[in-house]
Amino acid sequence: MECGSSSEPSVGPTHVAIIMDGNGRWAESRGLPRLQGHRRGADRVREIVEACPELGVTHLTLYAFSTENWKRPASEVMGLMRLFRRYIRKEGARLVDEGVRVRFIGGRERLEPDLQAQMSGLEAQTRMNSRFHLTIAINYGGRDEILRATRRMADAVRRGEISSEDITADTVEAYLDTAGLPDPDLIIRTSGEYRVSGFLPWQSAYSEFAFVDTRWPDFTVERFAQQIRGFGRRERRFGAVAG
Ligand code: FPP
Repeated sequence: MECGSSSEPSVGPTHVAIIMDGNGRWAESRGLPRLQGHRRGADRVREIVEACPELGVTHLTLYAFSTENWKRPASEVMGLMRLFRRYIRKEGARLVDEGVRVRFIGGRERLEPDLQAQMSGLEAQTRMNSRFHLTIAINYGGRDEILRATRRMADAVRRGEISSEDITADTVEAYLDTAGLPDPDLIIRTSGEYRVSGFLPWQSAYSEFAFVDTRWPDFTVERFAQQIRGFGRRERRFGAVAG
């Protein structure tokens, strides 16, 4: 993985978050089982993680499984969990060696203990890495994240560790799953749906959005690079007037 290449765009997004949608339709349109689409989707994850540093992207956050995805057939849920285990098992050592800091966001308690252990293990092994930041959202929902943060803040107030008058936006951020991470500059959703599906509602207050028609298994590095280049042409004002 190359870092700091001369091909870096001058004003590109440094934190990109992706709603990887369209795996099921990609598979169904080819007469394949939905899990085949998720498998192809996992290949895309590997390629895009590899491509980020050269494109000037230092943080990548991926929506892999939402709090609503438990409603899918048990076989699909189990298949997705198997893919997460396999990704950590097969890619973990490489991520450690390449200086990638891996974090998982979302509620952990509903996940199988062995997967939870794999996730915590990879987080611990990459804790000191800072070359690239990969965050994977599993059992994540923005409302759930804000609820869990609020409960923990309320507990801290009750214990006298913080006072309610002193709660600021920074305090809230420190209690979110994404504590310590910058807000995403660009959020991409694949497969032609115009929704955010509970992805990073607090963190995306000033993010740019790109909705692309391509289904996630067809979202190549070149298509990803096109979005990164397109972002460089946008003007971000963060509520102010153009300077
Ligand atoms: C949405 O497509 C995709 C998911 C719910 C799963 C995303 C998971 C992966 C890309 C697999 C591996 C991930 C990692 C991090 C290793 P969909 O099934 O909702 O598609 P549809 O809307 O066409 O049915």
